[in-house]
Amino acid sequence: MRRVYMDSNATTPVTDEVFAAMQPYFTERFGNASSIHYYGQRARGAVEQAREQVAALFHCRASEIVFTSGGTEGDNLALFGLVKPGDHLITSSIEHHAVLHAAERLRERGVAVTFLPVSEDGVVSPEDVRKALRPETAMISIMMANNETGALQPVAEIGRIAKEADVWFHTDAVQTAGKVSLDVAAIGCDLATISGHKMHAPQGTGALYVRRGTQLEPLFFGGTHERQRRAGTENLPGIVALGKAAELALLGLQNGAAERMAVLRDKLEQGILARVDECGVNGAGVARVPNTTNLWFDHLEGEALVIALDLKGLAVSGGSACASGAAEPSHVLSAMAIPAARARASLRFSIDKSTKQEDVDFALEVVPQCVSRLRELSPVYGRERVTVAG
Ligand SMILES: Cc1ncc(COP(=O)(O)O)c(C=O)c1O
Repeated sequence: MRRVYMDSNATTPVTDEVFAAMQPYFTERFGNASSIHYYGQRARGAVEQAREQVAALFHCRASEIVFTSGGTEGDNLALFGLVKPGDHLITSSIEHHAVLHAAERLRERGVAVTFLPVSEDGVVSPEDVRKALRPETAMISIMMANNETGALQPVAEIGRIAKEADVWFHTDAVQTAGKVSLDVAAIGCDLATISGHKMHAPQGTGALYVRRGTQLEPLFFGGTHERQRRAGTENLPGIVALGKAAELALLGLQNGAAERMAVLRDKLEQGILARVDECGVNGAGVARVPNTTNLWFDHLEGEALVIALDLKGLAVSGGSACASGAAEPSHVLSAMAIPAARARASLRFSIDKSTKQEDVDFALEVVPQCVSRLRELSPVYGRERVTVAG
């Protein structure tokens, strides 16, 4: 059976080049990067090379990179590492739960938190950020691109506001690596999170950019690893893989990978809109990462459509994978004032650099079929249409 994967915002496969780079570090190139002997020093060299590669992706210094276990840890380290009881934190209502739930926990610990609303297209207003500032504001944490809609947030403007107000600016850049430029100086952020498994490195790898001079309180206590910012023996193969994936992500950006993804995403989106009635794009009116489209299909349940498409061989997601299983409509689509029924009838298609034209053609074949079939089965669909027509 033919299978096509269009859920790359949930996770991406480790590519052959990345796998080949990491593989020796499980076996013949093993070592603890803290050991002073040959094995340790070879491991240390590999970790520091990976740090250079990740720093190149962020356009920062190698010493500003802290290796983590992924996006969730990076987001938590940024927030818990700098925001203290009595402080004020500004974030948005469309952040990933790694930021939202961390912010809620900080609130329980005596931090005042502002969750900013978004426009109907799912974008935070820099003006709202400015207005939310208080004398005790310590940090602004606004994601660079939303994982459900792909909407790019005005991070450079927010970075300027943070700088003027002299508050820390953290951006969750998990969904942008390899899709848009991640230049921390141009963004004006003090902290930025990435996750390996969204960029063809393994799950359980990631990095946090921490601007020089920013004193983080660590989440873990133990050894002096990562300049005392993250205790624990380094995940050597994972870090090597993240370094290679970062190098390839940067190369891809220079070689037009993002433009190629945008062409395929647009063909997919336009193709579905042309073939299916009563469907549309959530967040269509704004700049998005090139790999994501979030479409609504009225008169059906998104979960049922995800299952129907999976049975045909197409893997997509009915919202955020991390929230799947929850009957509640997505918090992101709800924040965009999308009615609950439409939010539940929305699907996220997210491609990556390995997606081909044939994959898009396949999706264009099966999506209209499955939508019509589910609508025909719906007891209310025909009646709703007659009512509307009458
Ligand atoms: C925007 C965003 N932030 C953070 C995370 C969490 O990353 P990880 O799965 O590496 O913990 C995700 C994962 O879906 C994400 O999309």
